[in-house]
Amino acid sequence: MSLISVQAAIYGILLLEASFSAAQQCILVKPNVLNGVPTPAPTPTVVQTGGTQSGTIAPSTTPTLAPFAYGKDPIRSVNLGGWFVLEPWITPTLFQNTNNSAIVDEYTLGQMLDHDVALGILQNHWETWFTEDDFADIQAAGLNHVRMQIGYWSVPLTSSDTNYTTSVSPYIPGAWPYLLQALNWARKYQLHVILDLHGAPGSQNGYDNSGQRTGNPLWGTNTTVPRTFDVINFIVKNIGGMIDMFELINEPAAYVGTINALLPDFYKQGYQLVRDIAGDDLQVMIHDGFLGVQSWTNFLTYPSAQGVFMDFHEYQIFNTFQIEMNFTQHLQYSCQVLSSLKSFADSNIFTVIGEWTAAPTDCAKWLNGRGVGARWDGSWQPNQPTYGSCTGFTGNMSTFSDSYKKFLRQYWEAQVQIGEAIQGWGFWTWKAENADDWSYQAGLKGGWIPQDPTQMLYPNMCGQNG
Ligand SMILES: *[C@@H]1O[C@H](CO)[C@@H](O)[C@H](O)[C@H]1NC(C)=O
Ligand SMILES: *[C@@H]1O[C@H](CO)[C@@H](O)[C@H](O)[C@H]1NC(C)=O
Ligand SMILES: *[C@@H]1O[C@H](CO)[C@@H](O)[C@H](O)[C@H]1NC(C)=O
Ligand SMILES: *[C@@H]1O[C@H](CO)[C@@H](O)[C@H](O)[C@H]1NC(C)=O
Ligand SMILES: *[C@@H]1O[C@H](CO)[C@@H](O)[C@H](O)[C@H]1NC(C)=O
Repeated sequence: MSLISVQAAIYGILLLEASFSAAQQCILVKPNVLNGVPTPAPTPTVVQTGGTQSGTIAPSTTPTLAPFAYGKDPIRSVNLGGWFVLEPWITPTLFQNTNNSAIVDEYTLGQMLDHDVALGILQNHWETWFTEDDFADIQAAGLNHVRMQIGYWSVPLTSSDTNYTTSVSPYIPGAWPYLLQALNWARKYQLHVILDLHGAPGSQNGYDNSGQRTGNPLWGTNTTVPRTFDVINFIVKNIGGMIDMFELINEPAAYVGTINALLPDFYKQGYQLVRDIAGDDLQVMIHDGFLGVQSWTNFLTYPSAQGVFMDFHEYQIFNTFQIEMNFTQHLQYSCQVLSSLKSFADSNIFTVIGEWTAAPTDCAKWLNGRGVGARWDGSWQPNQPTYGSCTGFTGNMSTFSDSYKKFLRQYWEAQVQIGEAIQGWGFWTWKAENADDWSYQAGLKGGWIPQDPTQMLYPNMCGQNG
């Protein structure tokens, strides 16, 4: 099927649905727990009904947001990383302040600290790591979407929502009202929302950014998968009307046999679940599971499915064959990614690079895990090759040379051009405490990211316009 016919078909459906969009607006009352100092556990009492099945939708007092012309207009987005799912490298101070080096992720934070201490740390973090100002700044940076992360433990299922356990121990729940507030801010600043299930029951990849750093991730069993569907069901039912796109699961490790075997069915069932609850209004995003997008050829394509997006994460630093590339090679490699993704997108489904970075090294402190070093300087594991010193490549931009900043600009542009050649892009991440190479906010300040993301200094990096 040609891209034109896919787009015409899908876009036609979107246009038809635009007239219903007013009914989709739902109000979210700002949870009052968010306005004061952190106090006892905020109980999410405000559960809003979104989606098309609700017969009673209250009149909206929030600003309206016109439907996004997916496939026609590129998604230009930034991830709100490390907010509702902690990552030690994004907020090292939070972890350092626990005084316990065995606390390496959100799971161990809940496990090893006194409950009230952990809750206090988390509430303070939820309240301060992103504020309304960030949403205003993201809008001012010319971006049209935010991609937001949520862990299953923050989704307040009751026993009527699942036949599986509602216990999330040792995780500390409580982020949900802050998520609701964030959705209100997104609406206020005219930002569309991609919500992704970043942490699934059992962990879908064992990375700390799934909530739990473990060599034995347990997602994929006959209890964790159905429980995940219950979480998805709850999310779509309750806030489906406040988001534009839902990603069924982030970075499932499909290089693991069991996950590989079940992932296609998980996606098909998850897609149908979203359609059954929300109708056709909510876009559904799937991640390639690190298999490469070509592994998903002819999968959930139109007309057997519609409104499905492929999410490809485009990092060039997490294995030796990529970390050893010099800067010129990184730029060239980006152009290869562009043609491969474009080829897939042209004949399959809309495709987005939902995560990528301007950092050409893995030097950011704890990027590979709390207490773990970098491949770049060989500190990752014993007896590793060394490609250079980390000095001047991460941390505070005051240490960055002009030539490095020039490269960051080129690399940012090359990867934006990948996204602009398909259906969009999402930079990881808006801010990081101490890794300016990873921070969109720092890039704006330091000048290697332009305030208008369409203003390219190197507009034809891959010859794609000629
Ligand atoms: C860590 O140690 C400092 C200094 O002793 C103390 O003030 C702080 O409360 C400790 N943090 C935790 C989470 O126990
Ligand atoms: C729980 O199981 C019962 C009996 O099989 C079923 O009717 C019900 O829909 C299930 N509930 C959920 C939330 O899946
Ligand atoms: C789930 O898997 C376990 C172990 O493989 C098995 O013993 C159990 O019967 C299964 N349960 C269901 C409901 O399929
Ligand atoms: C990068 O590596 C390639 C291939 O080894 C080499 O031809 C090129 O000169 C290198 N560029 C720089 C700037 O070092
Ligand atoms: C970065 O360095 C500058 C200049 O030394 C300093 O003013 C700034 O506070 C530093 N930023 C961070 C996040 O530490």
